[in-house]
Amino acid sequence: MHTGLVHLHRTLAYVALVLLIVSGIKFLMAARAKKEFTEGDRKLSLYTLISVHLQLVIGFVIYFTGLSFSQLKDFGAAMSDSSVRFQVLEHPLTMIIGVVLITIGYSSAKRAEGTAKYSKLSRFYLIGLVLILLRVPWDKLF
Ligand code: HEM
Ligand code: HEM
Repeated sequence: MHTGLVHLHRTLAYVALVLLIVSGIKFLMAARAKKEFTEGDRKLSLYTLISVHLQLVIGFVIYFTGLSFSQLKDFGAAMSDSSVRFQVLEHPLTMIIGVVLITIGYSSAKRAEGTAKYSKLSRFYLIGLVLILLRVPWDKLF
């Protein structure tokens, strides 16, 4: 099951990254042009949120069912090996912060009105995207 979930996590990573890039750029342009918020863009922001929430849940499962969690027991050794530190700490922590920011963006856009929705969404989605891009294991994606 673990291997299957890692594959799913990798496949969904493409989906989440594409959705984040498309929505980040689209919402930024709409905010600049002061456009009225559309139903299509509400759906785009929702699908993007769902894709990163799915990554979060699958990420937690593979974290606790794979080697990552057990490697935490010898914290010193885990931190001194850069590839172990990446998988055990840097990747999960940075992704969690990115997903939290994206969720805050979605949530505050829901309460905002009209074109302000675009500025909330673009700000939080783009900052979340940058964090995620910084700590995706690119060697495993390509
Ligand atoms: C948008 C968010 C995320 C993206 C784009 C992402 C992307 C990826 C990618 C591309 C891999 C490599 C998969 C492979 O080896 O084929 C990976 C591995 C991993 N991710 Fe994530 N991830 C995200 C969030 C998370 C979160 C929130 C956690 C944990 C709480 C997590 C935990 C892990 C773990 C433990 C691995 C290593 C799996 C293994 O080889 O055993 N990920 N992630
Ligand atoms: C660790 C697991 C998860 C956590 C901590 C989490 C957390 C949250 C939070 C805090 C919100 C609130 C956003 C708001 O204020 O509207 C939210 C919204 C949402 N989440 Fe998650 N989520 C998780 C997993 C999932 C999963 C697995 C899915 C679906 C596959 C999902 C789908 C959604 C959707 C659709 C919304 C938006 C609802 C709306 O339109 O208001 N989440 N989530």
